[in-house]
Amino acid sequence: MRQKIVAGNWKMNKTLEEALTLTAELKGMVAAEVKGSVRIILCAPFPYLVPVRNLLGQDSGILVAAQNCSEHEAGAYTGEVSAAMLKSIGMPYVILGHSERRQYFGEDGKVLAKKIDAALKHGITPIFCCGEPLEVRENNGHEALVKKQVEEGLFHLDNASLEKVVIAYEPVWAIGTGKTASSQQAQDMHSVIRKHLASKYGQGTADGIPILYGGSVNAANAKELFACPDVDGGLVGGASLKSREFTEIIKSMVDV
Ligand code: 13P
Repeated sequence: MRQKIVAGNWKMNKTLEEALTLTAELKGMVAAEVKGSVRIILCAPFPYLVPVRNLLGQDSGILVAAQNCSEHEAGAYTGEVSAAMLKSIGMPYVILGHSERRQYFGEDGKVLAKKIDAALKHGITPIFCCGEPLEVRENNGHEALVKKQVEEGLFHLDNASLEKVVIAYEPVWAIGTGKTASSQQAQDMHSVIRKHLASKYGQGTADGIPILYGGSVNAANAKELFACPDVDGGLVGGASLKSREFTEIIKSMVDV
């Protein structure tokens, strides 16, 4: 059985005070029975990682993760945060290759492959994002592009390393637009990704990799998306900033 995961990506939102309020609300709302069956992750901005983690404590059943890390080990890279630093504050996961990083910060397959290596070297699980822009889907190039993104970011890994990775499929046209992929579109792409992994790593390895869906997931559509056989959870943006809605989304994952 693959790990079920619901991760909230807060992106560049909230003051510290607001972040702690949201964290405290979630801690109170996420029921005990949920915690064992779904891995819940809050991907917070760097300055909030330690305070949010400290507020959650050991037994909340909610983990904290970073939204990015440097491809470099250490040194004169002003403004960057290394995987070693994230490890030193106990971060178990890091989002890598989010479309906003690709689009606004020029991150390409080459640099992402190095970031994946940096995270894995320090025992941090990458949540590797892939997904096509609207014009690519309209020209029916979405499967080829996502396969290429997966190849560029991950295919240099051996089986043992790949097995430590989580993938998130986030179609760019569905991010922050309120326009979610249909469950059929999500399932189709997740299946393409899993088959592509199987072609290189074998079915056993491919079957163990959690593939999350992201892009306008909300309390109303989560259940149908999460019911798809190859959708193992969600990477949630806007709706993860509201405690009640995010809790509803987490609950949708428990029942499937
Ligand atoms: P939204 O849920 O706001 O569409 O964002 C999705 C996303 O980018 C998560 O990483």
